[in-house]
Amino acid sequence: MTSFYVNSRQRKYKVTIGISFLSSVFRKFSTQPCIFVSTPSIQKIHPQIFPPNMPFFLFPDGELAKEWGPVEKFLAYLSDIGASRKSICIAVGGGALGDACGFAASLYHRGMPWVYCPTTLLSQADTCLGGKTAINIAHTKNVAGTFYPPMQVLIDLSFLKTLSQREIRSGLVEIWKHGLLKDKKLYLFFAKRSSFKNLKISDYEFLVSRSLRVKKWYVKQDEREENVRVHLNLGHTLGDAIEAASHYEIPHGEAVAHGLVYSAFLSHKLGLCQKKTALEIQKIAKKLFPQSRQLPPVKALIKKIKMDKKASDGKIHFLCIKEIGLIVQKPLPIELISHLIRAF
Ligand SMILES: NC(=O)c1ccc[n+]([C@@H]2O[C@H](COP(=O)([O-])OP(=O)(O)OC[C@H]3O[C@@H](n4cnc5c(N)ncnc54)[C@H](O)[C@@H]3O)[C@@H](O)[C@H]2O)c1
Ligand SMILES: [Zn+2]
Repeated sequence: MTSFYVNSRQRKYKVTIGISFLSSVFRKFSTQPCIFVSTPSIQKIHPQIFPPNMPFFLFPDGELAKEWGPVEKFLAYLSDIGASRKSICIAVGGGALGDACGFAASLYHRGMPWVYCPTTLLSQADTCLGGKTAINIAHTKNVAGTFYPPMQVLIDLSFLKTLSQREIRSGLVEIWKHGLLKDKKLYLFFAKRSSFKNLKISDYEFLVSRSLRVKKWYVKQDEREENVRVHLNLGHTLGDAIEAASHYEIPHGEAVAHGLVYSAFLSHKLGLCQKKTALEIQKIAKKLFPQSRQLPPVKALIKKIKMDKKASDGKIHFLCIKEIGLIVQKPLPIELISHLIRAF
């Protein structure tokens, strides 16, 4: 088991990474006032981890957790059972549950303690750290949110054994992105492997801990995403546009993989990065998604890009790759970005 601390404005919190250690930690928690929170699929697949006879609340699976309705129901439940502002909320689930439960915890009595136990690769390697909570409003993602880190993050890698390949790939893309941003050793894991099937728990241990090191660095520099933390959006200008323009048929991870390849392609066309680097990035994306889907029409992509919050005065502050571990932001005319999407 390994652990490290993250310093945030609100609190210092511990992140622990281990295997099959949650049940015993939960038994200890259950001697004090606490509420377990999860989703139906986790409850069904991993019923044994939750201690019996404890307050328990279920959010819906996936994005449906991030609606005002379940958050309100949860707040009402806390009030009904007489939870105090010192009761501890223990959330076990993917990034969507973490976002929703963290959001609710930040509201109840102006903030109750919460512990987050992420169960997907993305949530373990990325979203559990940084303190962002959010829900979607009127079908727009993350419109309402707070910065409210948990008091502890408990990462049990054994959850990954039951995760679908689609979810594993989504997590791998964001970990690869962290390698591209700041960790050559992590990047090389992706460059050197011929396939990403049958990863071992020891591989995940390496991937999750290295990925969190990168995320921790960004959060330490810029907790409120006022400058350098925006680099974490590498590949997301086109990636988010592909995901939305495909009406979410193309999963987030696969869409971001295209976005990363495009960032490298554009950077090479602008003379910022070597062709060799751009080609290697393309090769990694092909290994991650050997059968990638047809992309939405360019026109639809450009329409979505224009709506990007990084767009102003007909320009986009685009994240470019100079070399592995070196990212620069460039204000680029939307016409240039569109032209290069057509050539891509
Ligand atoms: N807070 C942040 O900093 C941050 C950053 C990036 C993304 N996000 C958010 O994270 C969310 C995506 O998170 P995600 O990728 O973890 O998806 P998710 O939480 O939607 O989970 C995906 C699916 O996997 C299931 N699942 C979870 N753990 C499982 C397990 N161990 N075994 C089997 N099935 C399991 C879930 O029930 C769900 O159906 C999005 O809402 C996104 O906006 C947050
Ligand atoms: Zn992403």
